[in-house]
Amino acid sequence: MDNITRIKELKDRILYHNQCYYVQDFPEISDGEYDLLMQELMDLEAGNPGLVTPDSPSQRVGSPPLESFVPMVHRIPLLSIDNAMDQGGIKGFHARIVRWLEKSKIMYCCEPKFDGLAVELVYEKGLLVHGGTRGDGLKGEDVTPNLRTIRSIPLRLDRHAVPDLFEVRGEVVMYKDAFTRLNERRAEEGRALFANPRNAAAGSLRQLDSGITAQRSLVFFAYGVSEASMLGSVSQVDIMKRLKPLGFKVNPLIKGCHGLDQVLAFIDYVGTKRDTLAYDIDGVVIKVDAIASQEMLGTKARSPRWMIAYKFPPLQATTVLEDILFQVGRTGVVTPVAVLTPVNLAGVMVSRASLHNARDIVRKDIRTGDRVILQRAGDVIPEVVGPVLSKRSGNEKPFEMDTICPECGSDLKQDGVAWRCMNISCPAILKQGIYHFASKGAMDIEGLGKGIVDTMVSQGILHDVSDIYGFGYDDLIKLDGFAARSSAKLLEAIDRSRDTDLGRFIYALGIPHLGEVTAHTAAGHFRTLDAFMAADMEQLKAVPGIGLEIAASITGFFADPRNRKVIKGLMDKGVSISNLPGDVTGVRPLEGKSLCLTGSLESMSRSVAKTHIESLGGRVVGSVSKSLDWLVAGEKPGSKFAKAQSLGVKIMYEDAFTQILKGE
Ligand code: IVH
Repeated sequence: MDNITRIKELKDRILYHNQCYYVQDFPEISDGEYDLLMQELMDLEAGNPGLVTPDSPSQRVGSPPLESFVPMVHRIPLLSIDNAMDQGGIKGFHARIVRWLEKSKIMYCCEPKFDGLAVELVYEKGLLVHGGTRGDGLKGEDVTPNLRTIRSIPLRLDRHAVPDLFEVRGEVVMYKDAFTRLNERRAEEGRALFANPRNAAAGSLRQLDSGITAQRSLVFFAYGVSEASMLGSVSQVDIMKRLKPLGFKVNPLIKGCHGLDQVLAFIDYVGTKRDTLAYDIDGVVIKVDAIASQEMLGTKARSPRWMIAYKFPPLQATTVLEDILFQVGRTGVVTPVAVLTPVNLAGVMVSRASLHNARDIVRKDIRTGDRVILQRAGDVIPEVVGPVLSKRSGNEKPFEMDTICPECGSDLKQDGVAWRCMNISCPAILKQGIYHFASKGAMDIEGLGKGIVDTMVSQGILHDVSDIYGFGYDDLIKLDGFAARSSAKLLEAIDRSRDTDLGRFIYALGIPHLGEVTAHTAAGHFRTLDAFMAADMEQLKAVPGIGLEIAASITGFFADPRNRKVIKGLMDKGVSISNLPGDVTGVRPLEGKSLCLTGSLESMSRSVAKTHIESLGGRVVGSVSKSLDWLVAGEKPGSKFAKAQSLGVKIMYEDAFTQILKGE
């Protein structure tokens, strides 16, 4: 194919994907693939300058504003940033800067590259009068009322600290947890899901009704001003320092780096932090720090010469969906699982991914044989975002839900978006219910792992969890893989687990939808197992964290005589639940638990948090160890977070934490 034809083809495809991405907020290809198209076009145009047309996507950034918004013309254009895909790109950038500035010691300001959308805020005499998206860099959309709903955007600044006309630039992002909550809510309402936090942020900001924006938690990180002279700054680091006291959110990772080595170390450091951050970043932006140097270097047509973006490997990839399997979970929910042609996703080979539920697959029209977009966010299981419709051959097989349990063959029952196996003796449900019962946060029976449970269930010596407490040495020793010592050890662990507390016991029962934290809250509230079992819907809903769905699940669970029989069996075999110490009328859901705090909590100071924890019976410790019960993680958690993750310590985010506190 000749260059002219290829350039035209690339331009058309990029234009199309730009529309999908920027206008519809629903991309069809991964960022990595889009970057490759753009790179190819830019390379071809660089070699054939005569073929560059003014309408080439390389000549503009983003896409035109939606017609329904009033345009906002940027007084000074918001440019783009050149990308470096690897270390070599950064080294080349540094070498150019050294050459152009004719000095060897260069100071850089290094910043995370936020994966959100660029916004400009205009203040007149200290008052926020306009705010708009970047659009094509020259003209964006005026979304002032929407921006006003974002709490991290100051509506008024110290009138005397800023010039009469003051323009701040930065990025609007949606935090990962807010994104997950938003999509969960949308799934419940049967509405289309956002592909990623950036699309959710864009979709939320570009709402004609700012009331909707107000319900979405968006965050604004300031990363610059339109002209450094507005703050009288001599460096980018200084601009950042001055924006903070004005009331802007300035990212704490931003750092001045001396020379190339420190820049490369910063990139590595931020790369290791990427997964633990509350928001998505897709790289690091490296800016020559001195404003005088920036001015000497100047700008090219679409990007400044003094700045470069190092792009991290994308957390999205595409691959072929080879098959869809069905997996039975602990509560009987049968979930579809994607079997994929193995693909490298941000450094990890992935061959299985979550497909959520049948309705989601149908809604997204994901078919076996499709090329699909895969995504990994943080440390969560990779998920299939959706099919790449343009790659369809017509031979793909539309999805059909299996309505028969793959493990026991019983008919599945539809329950909301889920399909459930209702057979209480389904071996898959039984096994997983037992793993859960024995797990660390539940009865904590060391040594009763998956392999052993599978063997015991298959050999017919384990029919329900109460059987665990009826085992004798003779039962164990005859099992495959058991010797005298291992049998004795397991019996000891089983025996130790007999004395437990109410929170653990309730959690161990595996009541659908009832999570660990709420199980402990409920324990603190009801104090005894009898009271909990007897509670009606209204009494249950009075417990923080228990809503209609969980309350119905609990009453449904205890209404089943089979479940009551298992509980009675456990009691008869000597399981004993210790009474909760303290005032019988007081609710102490954190009784006996050790908690450690990391990061900053939005709703309270650390000392207030500590007081609350102690008043609820918990103990606050300073460091993370294996025996820690919970790490309470606020915003920007420190090294304790990674340590807790590596030790398998449970992490509680602010939402769950405040829910417990509200139960006071
Ligand atoms: S500086 C020249 N600093 O990246 C204009 N941009 O790929 C660039 N971005 O549209 C502004 N984090 O939305 C700058 N720390 C950061 C950034 C950042 C993210 C975005 C920005 C821009 C896009 C270009």
